[in-house]
Amino acid sequence: MNTQLIKKVEEIIGVTKTIIMLDEQGCTSEVQKIITDNGCYLLKSSFEKRYIEWLKDEALVLKKLNNKKQIPVPEFYGFIEEKRGSHLIMSFEDGITLTSALEQAKSTTEKKSLIRSFGHFLQQFHEIDPIDSFTHNIDWLDHQLVKAESYLEHGQTKGSLQLLEKLKLNKPLPVEQTVIHGDCTTENVLVINGEVRLFIDVAGMTIGDPRYDESLAIRSFVNNEEYRRAFYDGYKRYKVSKEEFQYFDQGLYEFF
Ligand SMILES: Nc1ncnc2c1ncn2[C@@H]1O[C@H](COP(=O)(O)OP(=O)(O)OP(=O)(O)O)[C@@H](O)[C@H]1O
Ligand SMILES: [Mg+2]
Repeated sequence: MNTQLIKKVEEIIGVTKTIIMLDEQGCTSEVQKIITDNGCYLLKSSFEKRYIEWLKDEALVLKKLNNKKQIPVPEFYGFIEEKRGSHLIMSFEDGITLTSALEQAKSTTEKKSLIRSFGHFLQQFHEIDPIDSFTHNIDWLDHQLVKAESYLEHGQTKGSLQLLEKLKLNKPLPVEQTVIHGDCTTENVLVINGEVRLFIDVAGMTIGDPRYDESLAIRSFVNNEEYRRAFYDGYKRYKVSKEEFQYFDQGLYEFF
């Protein structure tokens, strides 16, 4: 970390005692734990244009949610923009991602219990009254398709033109929009004491189509009937059809 950045960070969270690069790094960012006299913080840094934009979106979401206890996310402390990249400071949360928790789980029972708790956590989240701070007038799916098109034009995605055309023509029938996470994989929720308790990586959190969250939530165990059932023991409000799952997981998600 350059001295100028350290200085800016310290203005926000106090004198740094230790800086630790985390074992579990993100794909689009660099994450470090910073310990100061005031507490433990997470510094998330991005250096590529698109990822910097996402980091800024994440900062805006966390800022909006600060002091709103309704949605469990890290606390926002600051956002620093530099020439070389941008840096988001948030609270460091003691937990591990659900992906890691599932890898470490010693039995199927334990895995099912984790997955059930994920379903339950997502259910509670989707049931929240849409909050004012997220209200917007654009249709979420239309907006995602516009973004996908722009990524395609700029060669920033692995999705193809053919797939995009298919997605535009075959939009699923609309359902009621809810608050959504927007990248709700097992990588982006933290497990604390055996239960899914917190969302991280919240750049896409907004009002949108809950089937997107649901599809990404189940993608890593969709072919395991026992695990899928465990998820739906916790998530009871809706079950995506095969077609809906494919539209979101093998379709839209390809662009992001
Ligand atoms: N507030 C936090 N407290 C503790 N650890 C965190 C926190 N936020 C993120 N992490 C850790 O950092 C890792 C990367 O974070 P995050 O998912 O936000 O990065 P990312 O680069 O956007 O991820 P990707 O692009 O892979 O989805 C997480 O897997 C988690 O282990
Ligand atoms: Mg992530």
